Amino acid sequence: MADDSQKSYFIHTFGCQSNKSDSERISGDYAARGYVEADDWRTCDELVVNTCAIRQRAEDKARGFLYNVGVFFNESGKQRPKIILTGCMTHHGQEKLYKMIPIIDEILPINEVGFNQSTVRKDLKHAWIPISTGCNSFCTYCIVPYSRGREQSRSLESIMTEVQDLVNKGFEEVTLLGMNVNSWGLEKLGIGFRKLMMENKNYTREDLPDNQSQYLKPTETPPFVKLLRAISEFDQIKKIRFMTSNPWDFHDELIDEIATNKKIDRYVHLPIQSGSNAVLYRMNRGYTTERYSEVCRKLLEKDPEIVIGTDIIVGFPGETEAEFEETVELAKRMKWKVAFVAIYSPRPGTASWRIYPDDIPHAEKKRRWEILDEICNKSTMGERPIIV
Ligand code: 5AD
Ligand code: SF4
Repeated sequence: MADDSQKSYFIHTFGCQSNKSDSERISGDYAARGYVEADDWRTCDELVVNTCAIRQRAEDKARGFLYNVGVFFNESGKQRPKIILTGCMTHHGQEKLYKMIPIIDEILPINEVGFNQSTVRKDLKHAWIPISTGCNSFCTYCIVPYSRGREQSRSLESIMTEVQDLVNKGFEEVTLLGMNVNSWGLEKLGIGFRKLMMENKNYTREDLPDNQSQYLKPTETPPFVKLLRAISEFDQIKKIRFMTSNPWDFHDELIDEIATNKKIDRYVHLPIQSGSNAVLYRMNRGYTTERYSEVCRKLLEKDPEIVIGTDIIVGFPGETEAEFEETVELAKRMKWKVAFVAIYSPRPGTASWRIYPDDIPHAEKKRRWEILDEICNKSTMGERPIIV
């Protein structure tokens, strides 16, 4: 509990595991400065709102929360805390954000939440470990390359120091986090496209970098596989998870490692996004449904205990009924353990927002969402995938 002289903070976190992990590091920074965590946002001196921008609804939630915060302090007449906004909504830029949400006092850029920052963790057995930040894949629908910037791998030394520290503290499970964990430690290209975006030039689908050409192809064991092996060396570490993988660079050696290294969780999250190759091309995903099925088939052939989950977007611009049906057919064959089905939400600044009109009516998107959710999450949940 806070004594009166001690300043307190509270963090409200929206969005994915990366945000939760960042919040642990922001807490670490507050703790290092002598702050204590308040029980509630109504009683803190500083309130950090860690936001998500993946879909419009995620942004609306953060804005709704901040609106309620404003109402509460207006009505109660209590001194309101200093309000700091961080996370993926910072992609809007300072000027727009201060105008859009006037209650904000300060904006904390996400890249200031460093890897090496100490953490305050609630869970004492399992730990999130960020291994990279940002993303170079430029899937056309995705805001992450803009909100979190270019991909940067954390150094092996820094990761291993954190794992050693966790082991010393008695942790047994880790989840390695990155927007694309497969490409951890690989040489990056793709800077030209970023420049094109920044200069706000008109570009077409053909200007987009091909997902598969962004990294130098590893001729030896991929660094990510080496990292998994190094972490597995710790006897005390019993379980290793990682997210998220991209099917385009899911190396055969990674498949072998998952199959043989039983410290790695048997659940593999592998987002497909669409079952139509034409849609995948418009999404700039860099793989085909055949390649996706091949990765799954190899995983299951090597270890039938493996289960696979996925993410799917319905109502991507131009998605025809026939293209949607391809996703439905694939979903029936794959029988994913779990599928997070999302309705396409155009994100201002992204390539799909610029290039393709958001032409599927909301009611139709919803209908497609319901059909897929039923197939993936209601009728087949928990069954073994059948890959053909
Ligand atoms: N609209 C809808 N869903 C999206 N996702 C990412 N961007 C969008 C968008 N603009 C989904 C993808 C991704 C998951 C984290 O969120 O399926 O894998
Ligand atoms: Fe996480 Fe992406 Fe949402 Fe940012 S936009 S919080 S990276 S899901």
